[in-house]
Amino acid sequence: MKDIIRRGLEDIKPYEPGRPIELVEKELGITEAIKLASNESPYAPFPKVLEAMRESLLDVNRYPDGGSTFLREGLSNKLGVPASRIMVGQGSNELLRLLANVLLDPGDEAVMADPSFIVYPTVTKLMNAKPILVPLKDHAHDLDAMAKAITPRTKMVFICNPNNPTGTIVTRDEVERFIESVPEDVVIVFDEAYFELVRDNNYPNGMDYINEDRPIVVLRTFSKVHGLAGCRIGYGIAPEFIITAVNKVREPFNVTSVAQ
Ligand SMILES: Cc1ncc(COP(=O)(O)O)c(C=O)c1O
Repeated sequence: MKDIIRRGLEDIKPYEPGRPIELVEKELGITEAIKLASNESPYAPFPKVLEAMRESLLDVNRYPDGGSTFLREGLSNKLGVPASRIMVGQGSNELLRLLANVLLDPGDEAVMADPSFIVYPTVTKLMNAKPILVPLKDHAHDLDAMAKAITPRTKMVFICNPNNPTGTIVTRDEVERFIESVPEDVVIVFDEAYFELVRDNNYPNGMDYINEDRPIVVLRTFSKVHGLAGCRIGYGIAPEFIITAVNKVREPFNVTSVAQ
């Protein structure tokens, strides 16, 4: 049969999730295996969260609030940014894809560290754009090399801070020097999935750069420290024009009511 699958997908490998722990235990004849594959919390969600989730189950006959209104309001109060600059997704993973959807034209480039979160090259290739991989230095992002890798075709840069899979951070000084050296129309995405787990005083809070007149995006998630990976819910802070574009391409009810 004629190849009817769109060109460009041949380069993309499906994400390989960890296998269900019950299967692995059965196969190996062991119990109490510890699952580390996706950096989930080993603990159940907080009791108040479970209570809210149970209550919300009674409303699943209705579609969820497509604008995640109350969650965005709550995040707005907590973070001190207008709700109009906040987007909510099916995990921050969905937001990474939506950002690629609205920013990358075919042939554009996205700069990222290597190795880093596997989803960055995938969402880039999905748009027939080109991932530019910059090797880590001492297991950490080499921001000077990443700045040098930027060309007129570069639309976005992913900074995974802390980095998955090495757990290293880039410091406040390094980030500030980087922002200074990047052209003003290149979107810098700070992926802070593990933000709440960092104890290093030199760790920068991406939110400190969000009010600058620059296309800077911060992504956070409820999957890790909050123990809600199975609910698929994450959020992002970005300039309003990016949120407006994302709203055009996301599904109308992308986040379940239980997750919200
Ligand atoms: C660096 C990083 N970013 C984003 C994600 C996506 O998390 P979620 O889609 O559950 O919010 C992960 C999950 O492993 C991650 O490690």
